[in-house]
Amino acid sequence: MRDGGNSVIVVEHDRDMMLESDHLLDIGPGAGIHGGRIITQGAPGQLLAGESITASYLRGEAAIAVPAHRRKGNGKKLVLEGASGHNLRNVRLEIPLGTFICITGVSGSGKSSLVEHTLYPILNAHFFNGVRRPLPYKKITGLQHLDKVIEIDQSPIGRTPRSNPSTYTGIFTDIRNLFAASPESKVRGYQPGRFSFNVSGGRCETCKGAGVKTIEMNFLPDVFVQCETCSGKRYNRETLEIRFKGKSIADELDMTVDQAV
Ligand SMILES: Nc1ncnc2c1ncn2[C@@H]1O[C@H](COP(=O)(O)OP(=O)(O)OP(=O)(O)O)[C@@H](O)[C@H]1O
Ligand SMILES: [Mg+2]
Repeated sequence: MRDGGNSVIVVEHDRDMMLESDHLLDIGPGAGIHGGRIITQGAPGQLLAGESITASYLRGEAAIAVPAHRRKGNGKKLVLEGASGHNLRNVRLEIPLGTFICITGVSGSGKSSLVEHTLYPILNAHFFNGVRRPLPYKKITGLQHLDKVIEIDQSPIGRTPRSNPSTYTGIFTDIRNLFAASPESKVRGYQPGRFSFNVSGGRCETCKGAGVKTIEMNFLPDVFVQCETCSGKRYNRETLEIRFKGKSIADELDMTVDQAV
């Protein structure tokens, strides 16, 4: 593509790809608020000679150790036989249980067809009455060794303003308890529910705790605008008066995980 006169820009972690480039940009130094700066740019040799986390890994000074011991597993196994969806050719898959298993192969080789489209729907139908039909297969054995299946992929956890990483993980319950335990909350008789933005009591009633108002657009996706009553804080004035180490519950929700810790 480059030789055809194009400019090719790739976002890549792969060492060989990085070192083959004509011009390399390293962004960092860390992630989130700790990043956002261009650390080096130029020929790959320039990055290699410089100081950055990327450079120290490329030079081999920093490395991620390969574990010396591997888990043996529990001796049981799950066996899928005769998988033949898409390009799969009568595949027999034997999975040792109680271990961390990785399935690898070039793009288009059939990993997703085997795992996402065959194995997962079989398990999901068995344990949870899932309705997605698996791609063709002959037989599965070993289901009795499992009690559930959970599919984790890279799709976002939900775009609703009512869900965030702290509500999703359950940590928000602890944070609400913390606020309810403060002396000022006790004096006022505030319970943990006061600090929820999903129920009436402590939340802003104009936006019902969403912090934003949804405007439905006929042919376009909904538009969110900041609530003018709470300015996006989700709570009413009284609730925001309760502070833990100087921060209100709305301040807490604005923090990164690192800041909160
Ligand atoms: N829905 C489909 N209908 C028909 N053929 C498909 C479908 N999905 C994938 N294939 C074909 O099946 C083969 C295996 O694709 P699959 O997506 O399983 O590979 P993969 O190993 O997961 O690849 P990648 O690393 O790109 O995710 C490919 O030839 C692909 O074109
Ligand atoms: Mg895939």
